[in-house]
Amino acid sequence: MPSAKSLFAHVLPFPGDPILSLMEAFEQDPRPAKVSLSIGLYFDEAGRLPVLDSVRQAAQALAQAGGPCGYLPIEGIAAYRQLVQNLVFGDDHEAVRAQRIATVQTLGGSGALKVGADFIKHHFPDAEVWISDPTWDNHLAILEGAGLRVQNYPYYDEVTGALRFDAMLQTLQRLPSGSVVLLHASCHNPTGVDLSRAQWEALIPVIVDRGLIPFVDMAYQGFGDGLDEDAWSVRALADAGAQALVANSFSKNFSLYGERVGGLSVVCNDAATASRVLGQLKAAVRRNYSSPPAQGARLVQQVLQSRELKEGWAEDLARMRERIKAMRASLHEALHEHFGDRRDFRFLLTQRGMFSYTGITEAQVNRLRDEHGVYLVRSGRMCMSGLSRANVRYVADAIIKVLGENQ
Ligand code: LMR
Repeated sequence: MPSAKSLFAHVLPFPGDPILSLMEAFEQDPRPAKVSLSIGLYFDEAGRLPVLDSVRQAAQALAQAGGPCGYLPIEGIAAYRQLVQNLVFGDDHEAVRAQRIATVQTLGGSGALKVGADFIKHHFPDAEVWISDPTWDNHLAILEGAGLRVQNYPYYDEVTGALRFDAMLQTLQRLPSGSVVLLHASCHNPTGVDLSRAQWEALIPVIVDRGLIPFVDMAYQGFGDGLDEDAWSVRALADAGAQALVANSFSKNFSLYGERVGGLSVVCNDAATASRVLGQLKAAVRRNYSSPPAQGARLVQQVLQSRELKEGWAEDLARMRERIKAMRASLHEALHEHFGDRRDFRFLLTQRGMFSYTGITEAQVNRLRDEHGVYLVRSGRMCMSGLSRANVRYVADAIIKVLGENQ
């Protein structure tokens, strides 16, 4: 029998996560023509989450091997952590060989961001974290949730759809040493607009000379231009001597969302520092969730340590990337056919990765969902990997209706 007065009366209802609540609403939607273009999930041509062949083989091998499931070490599986470093920084990177990178296995990219945020709060308590305007909603939530103060740097120009690179650089040039700058390695979420290599080359000396701490989020390695190409910025930062935190995720590129597999790597000046930093990352993990889960990391480890499985995986990933590009082209073609020069959709072709910032307003996003069952994020972010040959025409027609036939 509960006592009369609720001790939890002051607890407010959760307004819902702007992205995950759309996934829930989509699943409840009974309309057969519905299309999910909100959450960052890769769907295949048949509208299914793929099970990659390399992952299936790895799962079979693990199932056959059987064995008990004790706790993993706090920092995760040693071989997996090494494979993470090799994939993120490249096998022969000097920082890898010099053992000056501290890597822990994490619960996806979000877990890496949280452990990194706790590490920053503990060791740089007064540092402000600067995030791009706009960025993934959960960046702000995770960083503020760790008690950090967060500021925005200019990034995306709503009017032109271009990067506000000069304004971004000017802002970062004024930051005090020890400020943290959250950067997207590639496939910027939500805009799909990345820095060019020339822009990175202008940015990196500012970061190094001012003593800023880059916190790089790489959740989509392989979805932009390739596994190595998408990690170029991370490697260039390490080459230039930046001391950086790098969060990486295998949710999308292994289609292992629910396994929660990722890593946090901290690039240090030398191996002795990396060893102390690793200890403090372990302390942060232990305070959060004690130690990571095993199965997802074992799957990724199996694939990455086998030349054959790794090649198969890279080919599957290339196919996913190319399919997204083909869908970008199809949607562009359909919209261009209707609007001609009255409205420019070329951004669909130049933006990179899963997402496009469409400029579709919140009211139009609501109409797309309510009238046509086409789900975008409130900001107008569209997940291109939800498109297929079967639905792209339907989506284009819905967009045409909502944007106004006469435009
Ligand atoms: C997204 O941005 O849609 C993904 O990163 C999934 C998520 O957790 O928000």
